[in-house]
Amino acid sequence: MSPSRIRISLFTAAMAVVFLSVLWLSSLTGSSSIDAEILDIVSTSDGWADESSCIQCHTQAETFSETGHANTLRPASSPASQALLEQLVSSDAARHEETKIIQRDGAPTAVTRSNDIQHELKLDWCFGSGTHACTWASTIPDSHGNTDVLEFRFTWFASQHGFELTPGQPETKGGSPVSALGLLFDGARARRCFSCHATVLPVAHGRLDESRIKPGVTCQRCHGPREKHVQSEGEFHPPAWGPTDRMEAVNRCAVCHRLPEEKTVEEIVMGNPDIVRFQPMGLTQSPCFLSSKMRCTTCHDPHKKMAEQNSTGIWQCVQCHDPETDNHTLCGMGRRDDCLTCHMPKVDVGFPVKFTDHWIRIRSPDGEVER
Ligand code: HEC
Ligand code: HEC
Ligand code: HEC
Ligand code: HEC
Ligand code: HEC
Ligand code: HEC
Ligand code: HEC
Repeated sequence: MSPSRIRISLFTAAMAVVFLSVLWLSSLTGSSSIDAEILDIVSTSDGWADESSCIQCHTQAETFSETGHANTLRPASSPASQALLEQLVSSDAARHEETKIIQRDGAPTAVTRSNDIQHELKLDWCFGSGTHACTWASTIPDSHGNTDVLEFRFTWFASQHGFELTPGQPETKGGSPVSALGLLFDGARARRCFSCHATVLPVAHGRLDESRIKPGVTCQRCHGPREKHVQSEGEFHPPAWGPTDRMEAVNRCAVCHRLPEEKTVEEIVMGNPDIVRFQPMGLTQSPCFLSSKMRCTTCHDPHKKMAEQNSTGIWQCVQCHDPETDNHTLCGMGRRDDCLTCHMPKVDVGFPVKFTDHWIRIRSPDGEVER
């Protein structure tokens, strides 16, 4: 190993320790301007159209309901959530803690024992579509009049086909009714969770009006409230969401997928798992991005689920690195296939979800950073 390699490896290890504790999305804080922007949109209570009306006029709506965006928040009592919760019984970690799920009035309820006392907690929401993972949460009104969130100790991971400890939770369960079943987040943080996973989030005096939450990142979460648009049969257009300015377009995705501004220059370095975790941060460092008009939608169609986008196809790269027209450079190794494996691999960031490193670059064959 060359000295610079060792330095990178040590750095990576140190970063991993520092960042793992803040890696799971739940544990992140963001800049207040982003908070304000997000909360402005989702807290608007007027002007929303019925989402099921879009399909009358737009093909984009045809399979949208199958996307991760559409399903990223659901009531815990929904059939998909209940089906996953049934698998908790076969989790060693949960069995070890004597934690199980029972049904109370049709609602899944987590039950555990500590010091011979039984603690129970109704689960209200299921975060994550299950493409990668699902984490459950209970909403708990606090004495300040806010709605806090208790994040359940166990998370379902698609890669494991089962449950493991939710990243960021303490290794052993606590003894109080709350800490025996999860981690409590205050009202402000709780709202942040919902603001990235929901379309409408009515809040009155700090308290969430849960009966009126419109869960999931739906058409109008990106394109804005559309009541007048629908009533006018498409004559009226609210301010466009598909902006012409490229950075603005990327930032529209990055308000949730995280902006590069949320990290210091020192933190935006190759090998920092946080940069892998949050695609806009890596992508905007790539030579591809810096010397072209690339944006997120160059490779992603937010209206379709990933499987329908041929998301691992080389078409994404040959849009620009085209052997037919010799547009830009071609692979220095002479490769015409499998681009992602070498230049945009899936990376282990320390918990059972792998992420695609959007910092497109040349790497040496052993996966270390070359330059
Ligand atoms: C700033 C926006 C934001 C906040 C705040 C946020 N999330 Fe997310 N969450 C996301 C995004 C974006 C993804 C998709 C991540 C990806 O696939 O890269 C996601 C994914 C998830 C997933 C699925 C796992 C995965 O990686 O796809 C779960 C579960 C989840 N979030 C739970 C939570 C919980 C619980 C909270 C609050 C305690 C929370 N999130 C707060 C934006 C956010
Ligand atoms: C009665 C027909 C109709 C319905 C219903 C409708 N639209 Fe449209 N929409 C149009 C027409 C017409 C246009 C302009 C032509 C075009 O771009 O297709 C348009 C354009 C758009 C555009 C691109 C331009 C812009 O305004 O940003 C978006 C985004 C859009 N609609 C979203 C929606 C959403 C979301 C819904 C459901 C809440 C919806 N539309 C329901 C007719 C409709
Ligand atoms: C995650 C954000 C997101 C969601 C959710 C979303 N869109 Fe879009 N939509 C976009 C972006 C970004 C564009 C601009 C496309 C581009 O840049 O290629 C767009 C473009 C459009 C357009 C204009 C198409 C054109 O060719 O000009 C229509 C119409 C539209 N969306 C309708 C919908 C409808 C209907 C839904 C729900 C079924 C929806 N969108 C959900 C982000 C989203
Ligand atoms: C309101 C917050 C929000 C916005 C805005 C947003 N996303 Fe997401 N995105 C999420 C969340 C939450 C998830 C996790 C979905 C899940 O649970 O599987 C996600 C998941 C994804 C995925 C992974 C889908 C999968 O099936 O694995 C892609 C790709 C993606 N987003 C791209 C985009 C793009 C491109 C834009 C901008 C056009 C965008 N997102 C805007 C919140 C957002
Ligand atoms: C050059 C093409 C390209 C661009 C540009 C791009 N992505 Fe991706 N993205 C991919 C590929 C390839 C995957 C992996 C797809 C798969 O495994 O099915 C991916 C996966 C994802 C995922 C799923 C989680 C993960 O990390 O594997 C999210 C979320 C995502 N991209 C968001 C974004 C956002 C936000 C932007 C804009 C900042 C963006 N992407 C720009 C190619 C791209
Ligand atoms: C929107 C156009 C565009 C797309 C899409 C694109 N690139 Fe690039 N890429 C460029 C440009 C421009 C450069 C700068 C050098 C050049 O002109 O080729 C570049 C440079 C590179 C480099 C050299 C990086 C370095 O460290 O010097 C690699 C490797 C690369 N691209 C791989 C890919 C792969 C793999 C994909 C698909 C995942 C891809 N690119 C998609 C435009 C693009
Ligand atoms: C087996 C791993 C591997 C695969 C697969 C691969 N590449 Fe490369 N690529 C490399 C390496 C290593 C280099 C650096 C070569 C050098 O320095 O001469 C490179 C260099 C490049 C460059 C920069 C060339 C330059 O002159 O600056 C581009 C662009 C590129 N690759 C694009 C692609 C595309 C597009 C694909 C898929 C069609 C692809 N690569 C597939 C390993 C790979």
